[in-house]
Amino acid sequence: MRAAVYTETGDPADVLRVAEVAEPHAGPGHIRIAVRAAGVNPIDWKIVGGLRGGSPDHPTVPGIDAAGVVDEVGAGVTGVRAGDAVFGHATGGSAAEHAVLSAWAHKPAGTPFEVAGGLPVAGETAVRVLDLLGLEPGQTVVVDGASGGVGIATVQLAVARGLVVIGTAGEANQEFVRSLGALPTRYGAGLVDRVRALAPGGVDGGVDTAGRGSVRDLVTLTGNPTKVVTIADFAAGELGVQVTTGGEGQAARLAEVAELLAAGRLDMPIAGAYPLEQIGAAYTESRGGHVRGKLVLIP
Ligand SMILES: NC(=O)c1ccc[n+]([C@@H]2O[C@H](COP(=O)([O-])OP(=O)(O)OC[C@H]3O[C@@H](n4cnc5c(N)ncnc54)[C@H](OP(=O)(O)O)[C@@H]3O)[C@@H](O)[C@H]2O)c1
Repeated sequence: MRAAVYTETGDPADVLRVAEVAEPHAGPGHIRIAVRAAGVNPIDWKIVGGLRGGSPDHPTVPGIDAAGVVDEVGAGVTGVRAGDAVFGHATGGSAAEHAVLSAWAHKPAGTPFEVAGGLPVAGETAVRVLDLLGLEPGQTVVVDGASGGVGIATVQLAVARGLVVIGTAGEANQEFVRSLGALPTRYGAGLVDRVRALAPGGVDGGVDTAGRGSVRDLVTLTGNPTKVVTIADFAAGELGVQVTTGGEGQAARLAEVAELLAAGRLDMPIAGAYPLEQIGAAYTESRGGHVRGKLVLIP
């Protein structure tokens, strides 16, 4: 099959190329799909850049997000069959013609493959952080980084759960964040005062999707570090906030994402759909840190 691969870590634009590689197959508990769209996440270019150590010992396919059509069902898997349209988390890479998924949900019929392919990590993470906060309808949550992949999903899920949402973004994305159902404000210095002006009744929870140093402000706003979750500031645990990186239960969270998609309560703007050959450019754009929505690769 055709796949994007890297054999050494480095700048994605330099080390990624498209090559013929052996097709993967679905082992026990997994399914294989013919990939229709593979979303780009910051973790992808971080890993290609060397986050997890030195160069791999074999050509390695990057990517986690994928949507496509099932063509192999591994031993022990129930509830899905060949021909079903699904989206989920790839194990062994998603930037390829075929991908093996370790967690998935059925794609709603009305959801384009590009949108479903851009949602597994962002959508699953959004459900995870809101579950960790455990807020009640009517309570107020601040989402720092509301115009990025995880932020867009988190704002919409929080609105669907009946929360009042304040979302931070750059100047160019203020009205976009409002369109998601949040009260927009700028990120950065002065955040506490701006949020207090928007939420005179107080703030019940904070989500840091950006890892740009907002955690202390979110603790100040909530008055309780356990009511703050970060997905990107791994030093923040010492403040007593919740730091989350993943874990069990992905399929159930993807199922919730699928339900919200089907109900029209969740959408994800596709900022760009690139052919596989342009993976280096897509990763470089994601690394710039201001993509509104998701970039996806089309194999
Ligand atoms: N731990 C986990 O489970 C987990 C899961 C998924 C992602 N992540 C991590 O979470 C981070 C975000 O992922 P993503 O996919 O949402 O990234 P993304 O789509 O690239 O979004 C980044 C967002 O950050 C915003 N931003 C830029 N500078 C900021 C600042 N100083 N303060 C606040 N926001 C700022 C940008 O807003 P503007 O464009 O409006 O400036 C942009 O919308 C990445 O580091 C990723 O690796 C962790």
